[in-house]
Amino acid sequence: MAISKTFCSIFSILSLILLSIISSLTLAEDSHLFHKTISPTLLGLRKEKLSHLHFYFHDILSGPKPTAVNVAQARMTNKSSTGFGLVMMADDPLTSGPEPDSKLVGKAQGIYASAAQDELGLLMVMNFAFTEGKYNGSTLSVLGRNTVFSVVREIPIVGGSGVFRFARGYAHAKTHTLDLKTGDAVVEYNVYVFHY
Ligand SMILES: *[C@@H]1O[C@H](CO)[C@@H](O)[C@H](O)[C@H]1NC(C)=O
Ligand SMILES: *[C@@H]1O[C@H](CO)[C@@H](O)[C@H](O)[C@H]1NC(C)=O
Repeated sequence: MAISKTFCSIFSILSLILLSIISSLTLAEDSHLFHKTISPTLLGLRKEKLSHLHFYFHDILSGPKPTAVNVAQARMTNKSSTGFGLVMMADDPLTSGPEPDSKLVGKAQGIYASAAQDELGLLMVMNFAFTEGKYNGSTLSVLGRNTVFSVVREIPIVGGSGVFRFARGYAHAKTHTLDLKTGDAVVEYNVYVFHY
C-alpha cells in the first residue's frame, strides 16, 4: 500500500515536471507568434477624429518643368477621343491657395491613367505626401475614379501613414482652372478623413 502511494506521488511529480517542460516549449513557440489580438491603446490609439483638409492640386503638363509626364500609352490611345490607355506619372504640388506660388503643403505623387472609353474617366492611384506643420511626413493614399469633366468628383481615401494611420475617407475634387490647349489644371480638393 505504502509502496504504491510513494509510486503514485513520484508519478505525479514526474507528470508535473513533464507538464512544465511542455508548457515552456509552448511559451518558446509563443515568442514566434504570428498573430494575436492587442488593445488599441498599445499603439497609442485613443479617440478617432475627423479632419477636413483643403488645398489646390496643380497638374502642369506644359512648359519646361511639367509636374506630370506621359509614361505609357497604347497604340490606339491617339485615336481614342478619351485618350484611353494613357498613363501619366505625377509629382503635382499641393498648395494652400489656387495660385501656383501660394504656400506648398505637399505633393500628389503617383499615377493617373485614362481608364474609360466613352467619357474622360481617370483611374487615380496616388499618395498625397504632406510637408506642412504636424502633417509633415504623413501621407494619404488615394485610389479611385476621376471623371474630370464632372463638376465634383468623389475619390476614396483608402489609407494613410504618420498622423493619418488607419485613415479612411473621401476627397471631393473640383476643377478650379483648366487650360484645354495645354491640359494644365488647378483642382480644388476638400478631403475628409477619419484617423487617430
Ligand atoms: C500618336 O502619338 C505619337 C507619339 O506617341 C505621335 O508621334 C503621333 O504624332 C500621334 N499621332 C496622332 C495622329 O496624334
Ligand atoms: C519636414 O520634415 C523634413 C524631414 O524631417 C524636414 O527636412 C523639413 O524641413 C520639414 N518641413 C517643414 C515645412 O517643416
